[in-house]
Parts: sequence; structure tokens; C-alpha cells
Amino acid sequence: MSTPNHEVKSGSDAVPPASSVEDSSTVASRPLIRFDVLTLFPNLFEGFLSESILKRALERNLIAVHRHDLRTWASNKHHQVDDRPFGGGPGMVLMAPPVVEAVEAVQALTAPPGLVLAMTPSGRRLDQEWVRRLATQPRLILLCGRYEGFDERIIELLQPELVSIGDYVLSGGEVPAMVVIDAVSRLIPGVLGDDQSAVEDSFGPEGLLDHPHYTRPRLYRGLSVPEVLTSGNHAEIARWRREQALQRTRQRFREAVLPTIPNAPYGSAPPATE
Ligand code: ADE
Repeated sequence: MSTPNHEVKSGSDAVPPASSVEDSSTVASRPLIRFDVLTLFPNLFEGFLSESILKRALERNLIAVHRHDLRTWASNKHHQVDDRPFGGGPGMVLMAPPVVEAVEAVQALTAPPGLVLAMTPSGRRLDQEWVRRLATQPRLILLCGRYEGFDERIIELLQPELVSIGDYVLSGGEVPAMVVIDAVSRLIPGVLGDDQSAVEDSFGPEGLLDHPHYTRPRLYRGLSVPEVLTSGNHAEIARWRREQALQRTRQRFREAVLPTIPNAPYGSAPPATE
């Protein structure tokens, strides 16, 4: 069962008084999205939440992140939350009772209950379109797996959306949960200094990759900044950037798709045609 003391303090619980924030008018009265992270390793999120964009978003109360230690819901005195798999095999499996009860208790802390996401390499691969949909939710419950994975009844009972961040296996769902928090928070109004930068990132509305960027110095080790970028001609710059974005997207798309065609007349990368 839940205990009142399960929550680990995170940045969201340490919101400074408005007077200590640069521009007090930008402190929201209520976060636009609340993340609840259920994990065996809440401290892993410490550095992640205490720097840069997310730190500022937490201070300004634009987002809230609450971390919950799954061991709080362990029923025996050893705080055991995992066990050997029935049928044999390596590794340990997260047990259903503590995990299901943890999610239910956390959902009951406040309304709405939120959308439950379970981090697992066997989930659907996260992409920007999914991130955009998640950013419209008021609350996300992020369930971090460890060991060999979840007892399947956790999935059957909670019916979470299963999120993979790529086709490789990590030691647990904590880094994937950080990926979700970061990607979603960037889309919350006010989180980025310049709201437009989320629109102009790769995978914007048109699904294009980002164009190349340059800053000072103009010449570095014989490589110079493309002249158009220093021309001051904004129409030309916009045209160049779009052309570069299209070119990169076509190239990446070909690399991703063509090598899967059997007997393709090229190696792992297709021949450049432009
Ligand atoms: N847990 C372990 N590996 C993972 C991955 N690639 N995506 C999501 N959760 C995971």
C-alpha cells in the first residue's frame, strides 16, 4: 500500500519564491504539465532536473516533476520489487503488486489520473509526432523498468502506452523517461526562451531535418561560413536553409530506407545523386 512519504523531492518541489526568479511575471500559477516518475533510482534525475532549460521551467512552475521510489510499495522487509522469472532464464523481473499499487497510489494523489507510459525497448519507437501528442496532456505517469522487464500483468492491468527510445537495450527506463520529459517540456509554451525554436527544430510541421548552423569565427581551419549567411539577404538565407534541410532529409531518408531493399546495387549508403 502507499505510504505518505514516498515522494522524493525534485526541482518542482523546490520552487523558489517569485522574488528570486529573474522575471516574476513569468512564474505560472499552475504547471501546464505534471510528470510523475516511478523508478527504483529517483536520484538519477538529480542533475538532469537541476540544470539549464528544465531547471528554469521547474523554477517558473511551467512544468512539475514528481519522483516516486517504487521500493516504497514493496511488501516485504527487504523492499523487494523484483524476482526470478517463472520458467527460468537470466535476470530479474519487476513484480506486479508493488508496481501496480504504486501507479494506482500516485494516480490517486491528484486529478487527473494521467496517461501512463511504460519505458521498454519492446515499445513503439518515440518520434516527434508522438511527443507533440504527449505535450497536450496535463499529466504523464512515467514507469521505469529495470532488470529483464515488467511482469506482463503490469501491462495487462495498467494498459500503459509502451515507449521505446530506440532499438537498443539500456540498463533501465530512467534515461528513456528523461528523454520523454525533455522532448515534451520543450513544447510547453514558455519553456524555451524563444518559442519559435521548437518550431524550427528538426521534425517540425513539415517533418524536415534541421538545416546546418554556423557561428563565429567566419573561418576555422580553412573552412568558411557559406557566404549567403553573411549576406544580410533574408530571403536568400531562408531559401538556402530550406534547400539544405530538404537535401539532408532526402539523404537521411535514403540511408534509412534503401539498404533494406534486397540486392540493392550499393552498400550501406546509396550513391549521392546531387
Ligand atoms: N529500457 C531499456 N532499454 C530501453 C529503450 N531502448 N527504450 C525504452 N526503455 C528502455
